[in-house]
Amino acid sequence: MKKNIVVLISGRGSNLESIISAANKKNFPAKISLVISSNRSALGLKIAEKNHIKNFVVEQKEFSNKKLYEEDLIGKIVQQDPSLICLAGYMKILSKKFINKFKDKIINIHPSLLPDYKGLNTHERAIQAGEKYSGCTVHYVTEELDGGKIIAQERILISPSDTPETLSRKVLEREHIIYPKTIELLLS
Ligand code: GRF
Repeated sequence: MKKNIVVLISGRGSNLESIISAANKKNFPAKISLVISSNRSALGLKIAEKNHIKNFVVEQKEFSNKKLYEEDLIGKIVQQDPSLICLAGYMKILSKKFINKFKDKIINIHPSLLPDYKGLNTHERAIQAGEKYSGCTVHYVTEELDGGKIIAQERILISPSDTPETLSRKVLEREHIIYPKTIELLLS
């Protein structure tokens, strides 16, 4: 039987879409049992809907504090008994309590060769610094932002004509391969 995974998003949802396609294959070890978005207008919600995947919007502004927001999130996730929680463009920082609740089960994809370029605007910063390579990294989520143990990484060459937009497109293509592949490896 396929294991459950929960995907947390905040925006476009292209990584979510790549996991959905992979999970639709018979031999993939997991299915997405729930998508949660921290943002009501996330395009990724439409992708979940189109694919008939249960989805919720849980926005922090609906709660009086972050603790209550996360308690709601935890409650919804626990019900799925997930083997993995995959952050895919999820833009909120998770608390220690949340991370400990799902110890070693939360992973994220980040558009840089970690430990370089943690945080936002990775492509812009890599180009500005004159880096020869960029890439993407799948890592465990810990309390340190983009700082958990690296699980998989893929490197691509930055061409002199690359802009943050072209580089982002190139890296994203790799993200869509490496993320489902890593999930498959972890759960097989
Ligand atoms: C991706 O570049 C991912 O690496 C980063 O956020 C972006 C999400 O894109 N964490 P999408 O919502 O999956 O299209």
